[in-house]
Amino acid sequence: MPDSPNRETVALELGPRSYDIVIEAGLLDNIGPALTPLLKNRRVFVVTEETVMHHQGTRLQQALERDKIDSRFFTLNAGEATKSFTHLEPLVSDLLKSGIERNDVIVAFGGGVIGDLAGFAASIVLRGVDFVQVPTTLLAQVDSSVGGKTGINTPEGKNLAGAFYQPKGVFIDTDTLQTLRRRELLAGYAEVVKYGVIDDPVFFAWLEDHGQTMVALDNSPEVEAVRAKAIAHSCRAKARVVAEDELETGRRALLNLGHTFGHALEAECGYGDQLLHGEAVAIGMVMALETSARMGLASHEDCSRLTHHLQSVGLKTAASEIEMTTDADRLLGHMHKDKKVEAGMIGFVLGGIGTAAVHRGVDLEIVRAVLHDSLTTG
Ligand code: NAD
Ligand code: GLY
Repeated sequence: MPDSPNRETVALELGPRSYDIVIEAGLLDNIGPALTPLLKNRRVFVVTEETVMHHQGTRLQQALERDKIDSRFFTLNAGEATKSFTHLEPLVSDLLKSGIERNDVIVAFGGGVIGDLAGFAASIVLRGVDFVQVPTTLLAQVDSSVGGKTGINTPEGKNLAGAFYQPKGVFIDTDTLQTLRRRELLAGYAEVVKYGVIDDPVFFAWLEDHGQTMVALDNSPEVEAVRAKAIAHSCRAKARVVAEDELETGRRALLNLGHTFGHALEAECGYGDQLLHGEAVAIGMVMALETSARMGLASHEDCSRLTHHLQSVGLKTAASEIEMTTDADRLLGHMHKDKKVEAGMIGFVLGGIGTAAVHRGVDLEIVRAVLHDSLTTG
């Protein structure tokens, strides 16, 4: 597909599983030509949820109709609870009852919840049908739609059942962010900052200059351009890591920066509206840099710089800012249940801005002190 002046295409190189990530303001209104090369049957099975349908559904329906692509929509409840066996089972059943065939394509149209669930459904229906991602949240556009991690939550924990199953394409319309709640935009922004902290200090410095614009509730061309640039940069960063380590045997673990701490906070808050995933990642990244500073792996200045930047856009940076009753030992208990624990040792992504690396065998007394301080003083 040739790039228009406002379109950016990022290639994710994975041999036979390679695909393009297409980023363009307004892409949803013209998605037919983008999808067509991926369709063997001129029909799609769109998995989505109510809120996305309310704000963006008509655009997709009209675009598909205009290009004579037959579509069936499966509209689920919005929210994290939908990413569960309870909702997967009827979804698979409905797809089968609708006559889906191996040559059909599922479209995951929504945020990370729908992307993860629909991707997992695609991996198991008829032993695997093609799917594409049409992400509609900032978090999904810069992270969850790229890289093929699909799955659901189980009563035992988050994302504990799933599959690595790559989409055939990712179609990002940055205009969909115009209807997103500011809180969701901010949460997604934390994942953008993550790429700078991992290994890209130049991008981090650019975000320090442009972060406010990124999360402004304003859809001026200037804001749109900054968002598109940051989204494309984030997708390139993720595509590079996934191309190198698709199944997370090494470098891909760096993408979990802030997540070991963050998941513990999320587990304590019940994975709901009290603390969004990206909000937890923001606090978790500060805890990771604070731990790094106390271990001599980062400067205290890097930790303050990250804290200041996240605060400047309106993100929380300490556990004491969350309304919850917990303590450092309970949070450490959650960390021990993380799926990346190996031989009983928690893997922490630590380092300064641009120098993240995975560390095992970290002194948990330092971690306990960081958790305690974040819970009590911030
Ligand atoms: P989400 O899908 O629940 O979307 C957040 C909220 O925004 C929901 O209320 C949704 O209804 C609403 N929404 C979505 N698009 C909208 C739009 N354009 N306008 C208005 N409202 C809109 O959550 P999320 O933050 O996108 O994703 C979180 C999920 O992603 C978690 O389950 C997390 O585990 C998963 N995740 C997966 C990966 C991965 O690699 N697969 C990476 C990071 C996160
Ligand atoms: N969000 C982390 C990963 O995709 O590996």
